[in-house]
Amino acid sequence: MGSEKLDTAEASGVRALTCVARRSELAPSGQLSRWVDDHDLLIFEHKGKIKVLSNICPHLGGPVGYHKLKDGRFTCLWHNFQFSADSGQCIDHPKLCLREYKTEVRGDEIWVQLVENV
Ligand code: FES
Repeated sequence: MGSEKLDTAEASGVRALTCVARRSELAPSGQLSRWVDDHDLLIFEHKGKIKVLSNICPHLGGPVGYHKLKDGRFTCLWHNFQFSADSGQCIDHPKLCLREYKTEVRGDEIWVQLVENV
């Protein structure tokens, strides 16, 4: 799907939100990963809420969402560090944390504020 930008938010000085996925796309497994612009997103539903975390492991860049969410945790493909789906915090190394994106759900659409690392 093509991404759409919400121009009204940008006009008010707030970074625009981008439509990154549809809820219906999550239905098969409850999660998906997708590149949008320069962002590798891990989009998932957990405890009845849609969340978007970075799919890039802060250890060495492995794909956090390669494996299916299990017991509230994602396990990175490369070295098996585990991350909380609630907070993005690494269970094994608490100083590591996945970035969480501001997310809004509008009907079937999932909108995310894409911001660059600072
Ligand atoms: S790159 Fe993810 S645990 Fe090492």
